[in-house]
Amino acid sequence: MATSSRFQVYVLAFCATLLIQGGCYGHSVHQRKHAALFIFGDSLFDVGNNNYINTSTNFQANFFPYGETFFGHPTGRVSDGRLMTDIIAEYANLPMIPPYLQPGFDNYTNGVNFASAGAGAAGALAETFQGFVLDLKTQLGYFKNVEKQLRHRLGEAEAHRFLSEAVYLISIGSNDYIAPFITNSSLFESHSHEEYVGMVTGNLTNVIKEIYKKGGRKFGIAGMEPLGCTPGMRTDKPGNTSTCKEEVNAISKLHNRVLAKVLLKLKGQLQDFIYSNPNFYNYLNDIVHNPSKHGFKEGKMACCGSGPYRGIMSCGGKRGVTEYQLCDNVTDYVFFDSGHATERVYQKVSKLWWSHTPDVTARYINLKELFEV
Ligand SMILES: *[C@@H]1O[C@H](CO)[C@@H](O)[C@H](O)[C@H]1NC(C)=O
Ligand SMILES: *[C@@H]1O[C@H](CO)[C@@H](O)[C@H](O)[C@H]1NC(C)=O
Ligand SMILES: *[C@@H]1O[C@H](CO)[C@@H](O)[C@H](O)[C@H]1NC(C)=O
Ligand SMILES: *[C@@H]1O[C@H](CO)[C@@H](O)[C@H](O)[C@H]1NC(C)=O
Ligand SMILES: *[C@@H]1O[C@H](CO)[C@@H](O)[C@H](O)[C@H]1NC(C)=O
Ligand SMILES: *[C@@H]1O[C@H](CO)[C@@H](O)[C@H](O)[C@H]1NC(C)=O
Repeated sequence: MATSSRFQVYVLAFCATLLIQGGCYGHSVHQRKHAALFIFGDSLFDVGNNNYINTSTNFQANFFPYGETFFGHPTGRVSDGRLMTDIIAEYANLPMIPPYLQPGFDNYTNGVNFASAGAGAAGALAETFQGFVLDLKTQLGYFKNVEKQLRHRLGEAEAHRFLSEAVYLISIGSNDYIAPFITNSSLFESHSHEEYVGMVTGNLTNVIKEIYKKGGRKFGIAGMEPLGCTPGMRTDKPGNTSTCKEEVNAISKLHNRVLAKVLLKLKGQLQDFIYSNPNFYNYLNDIVHNPSKHGFKEGKMACCGSGPYRGIMSCGGKRGVTEYQLCDNVTDYVFFDSGHATERVYQKVSKLWWSHTPDVTARYINLKELFEV
């Protein structure tokens, strides 16, 4: 009852505002508040955009055995099943949010997903793989197309209202930090870690500001996981594959510290800007190092791939290397392939992000609150 009356007060106050602007529609009073979901980022969030671009299979997962557990067929998601965005959409009572490039899809009532596997923020990959994926800037361009279309369909005020009630989820940076350890990056080599992280978070900040300008207020920004502990990074050190790559982990942690500061600063600059920026680094680090504590059997080796720890990105046999191994029971595994977690891990993290206890000191809230404000 309390929630519903609070909501009614909100709607009435909102209608009063709109009336001043010359447009409040009676029906909204009786409707449950609707927050659409707009998604930006990399393979953690890509639900199939890369299926529709001219790219290399290195950046795709639209072949067996990806998608097998939940969907029973490949969808483009780089995992055995659903991604966090799918699970979060379910929590928010939304259907799965389709990829922007899905042919024929243009109904943005529930939002849309712009994420692209391999995408980065600061162009470490763009230097090497220019044009192969939708980088963050390109994703922002697509968002602006959507915004234009919404204004055309709904009118200026209604489109702005719709966009300001929506939630924006962003996962970006892991490719910027991993790429320099796979391929030469002059950008990485000519800058300190601090400078490099500053570029990634700086470019992310610019994108957030651009979304804000179009009406976006509610942001969920994923923190960085211990990137150095993925099977692919473990095998990167010849002769010593048993430990995580500490330099990459150090950068991941630095990213989280810098991002937390940048977002807090942004909150001081942008009126009504609200965000959820959980730091799951320690939680994921614990899953990797103590898998049995969390119901897994294997935290180091991937379910699918080849080489030590199945750390070679050969899952599916379509990326140059045709031979690969596939585990019998993915339920036991933390990692599905050399760089990506299993749906089971995404379920745990999504649940935590949705409903974790707010951390007052870090001033971040959970996603449930973000959807409800
Ligand atoms: C796709 O990319 C390849 C390699 O970059 C290129 O040779 C080819 O012309 C492209 N095809 C289309 C349809 O753009
Ligand atoms: C768009 O999708 C929403 C929600 O599924 C639906 O209510 C609406 O009718 C659709 N609009 C059009 C133009 O198809
Ligand atoms: C964004 O990244 C590029 C490198 O691709 C860098 O030159 C630029 O300075 C960055 N922008 C910000 C605001 O940090
Ligand atoms: C990186 O550059 C060096 C020389 O500048 C070259 O020897 C090496 O093969 C390159 N490595 C990759 C992965 O491209
Ligand atoms: C592997 O590397 C870690 C540090 O990254 C080091 O502590 C350990 O001694 C090394 N093990 C071997 C067998 O070289
Ligand atoms: C997979 O493993 C889980 C837990 O280890 C177990 O409950 C389940 O029965 C296994 N499934 C198969 C098909 O072996």
